[in-house]
Amino acid sequence: MLPGRLPRNPLPCGGTLFAPGASLRLSLEVALTDDVLAVHGGTPLQGQIRVRGAKNLVSKAMVAALLGETPSTLYDVPRIRDVEVVRGLLGLHGVKVSDGVDDGELVMDPTNVESASTDEINVHAGSSRIPILFCGPLLHRLGHAFIPDLGGCHIGPRPIDFHMQALREFGAVVDKTPEGMHLTAPNGLHGTKLELPYPSVGATEQVLLTAVRAEGVTELRNAAIEPEIMDLICVLQKMGAIITVHTDRVIEIQGVKKLHGYKHKPIPDRIEAASWAAAALATRGEIEVLGAQQADMMTFLNVFTNIGGEFEITDARVTRPGVTGVEGGIKFWHPGGELNAVALETDVHPGFMTDWQQPLVVALTQARGLSIMHETVYEQRLGYTEALNQMGATIQVYRDCLGGTPCRFGRRNFKHSAVIAGPSKLHAADLVIPDLRAGFSHLIAALAAEGTSRVYGVDLINRGYEDFENKLSALGAHAEYV
Ligand code: EPZ
Repeated sequence: MLPGRLPRNPLPCGGTLFAPGASLRLSLEVALTDDVLAVHGGTPLQGQIRVRGAKNLVSKAMVAALLGETPSTLYDVPRIRDVEVVRGLLGLHGVKVSDGVDDGELVMDPTNVESASTDEINVHAGSSRIPILFCGPLLHRLGHAFIPDLGGCHIGPRPIDFHMQALREFGAVVDKTPEGMHLTAPNGLHGTKLELPYPSVGATEQVLLTAVRAEGVTELRNAAIEPEIMDLICVLQKMGAIITVHTDRVIEIQGVKKLHGYKHKPIPDRIEAASWAAAALATRGEIEVLGAQQADMMTFLNVFTNIGGEFEITDARVTRPGVTGVEGGIKFWHPGGELNAVALETDVHPGFMTDWQQPLVVALTQARGLSIMHETVYEQRLGYTEALNQMGATIQVYRDCLGGTPCRFGRRNFKHSAVIAGPSKLHAADLVIPDLRAGFSHLIAALAAEGTSRVYGVDLINRGYEDFENKLSALGAHAEYV
């Protein structure tokens, strides 16, 4: 634990955190209610940390447990806020969720699924985007569903039109009210032929979670095929679902009448692993990420190598409660000398993930020459570069599609391409964390910068990075809560 840790949100609204006359001009509201970390930068991060099950699989696998008629067990579940949100929602719907005997084991018993009141569900409004995936499973189990207003990171408008269109084609009736969405399926849910306008991860999951128990066959075209989707398909197959993944993003699902529970060890979190890899590069350090898996990170590893980073697939001897033995991972390091500029664009799998973009841009501020980052998945995911510029980086953002293929945002008014000129000497600054991945990149920038930065709102990082404080400590970071 980093020194000075306070309980979460220690100050009541309107409390005073700073001495009168303090010169801070940051968003005071954020500062008053969230955690503030003082980060003393300039020390290379060095050591070993471990990543557990992927946030973007674990949360969906938890929703899938609702579809079974017997208990499911997930292993290696990280302690992060998104898991708590889904756990809360499952609990409200009568699913008994308990921690198993081993660290990271979660047992979900959906034997007595029941309706929850809209008021209870609305407690989770704005906290995550996962509740939208409860639609199909709740319609199957209860015949109706209520979905609160969604949350998640503010990285663009994040519409849910693909989800709604798909659900309607299955036969759901959606009633949007000011308090949230009510769904029913008066004539049941039926298999259908669908084509997504864009290979959306969430919409593909929505279709999978609905089609597995819909009557008849569903054919989904232009589906997302991220490793987390493939792992969700594995979970559903273990439950008794019949799903075929064809070439060219076509997935066929034969609906079945009943599903049972599963036991599953999720794929490791490749976003967290890449975030620590970028931290090693940006701070000129060396980090071994236990649990990281090469197969899911090939695109990242190629880019990492092109920039000048080095990595090794490792088998490390580990001893921790309950585990003694050899565990695989990836060691990432900065080999010394200068990093190379690269031109990149984010894309759906197997392209370079949009969630890898922000941490890597911090490392690119240290590369010699002009790097280009063309963000093609979310239209507003470069706002965080302003904070990096405050710290001495030279990053310009453009509305044009720079660097290669024109994307959906090209002729619209979104600054979605960045040119990063480096290397830049980063200096300390006061930073307010805007969203999960940008937040982690702020943290990396503060660790790479000279001097002491204050990072406001670090609690947001707990949404997706398990135990990041202890991991920072283990890597020798100098930081404390203020
Ligand atoms: C998932 O979001 C992840 N979240 C995101 O990670 C990730 O960045 C994203 O997939 C892409 O890999 C979770 O798994 C919880 P999408 P999702 O639907 O499913 C547009 C993180 O930090 N779209 O693939 O919401 C959308 O606006 C998060 O861990 C529509 O237009 O992403 C975007 O431009 C951030 N209409 C594109 O598709 C829709 O109905 C891709 O979004 C749905 C999506």
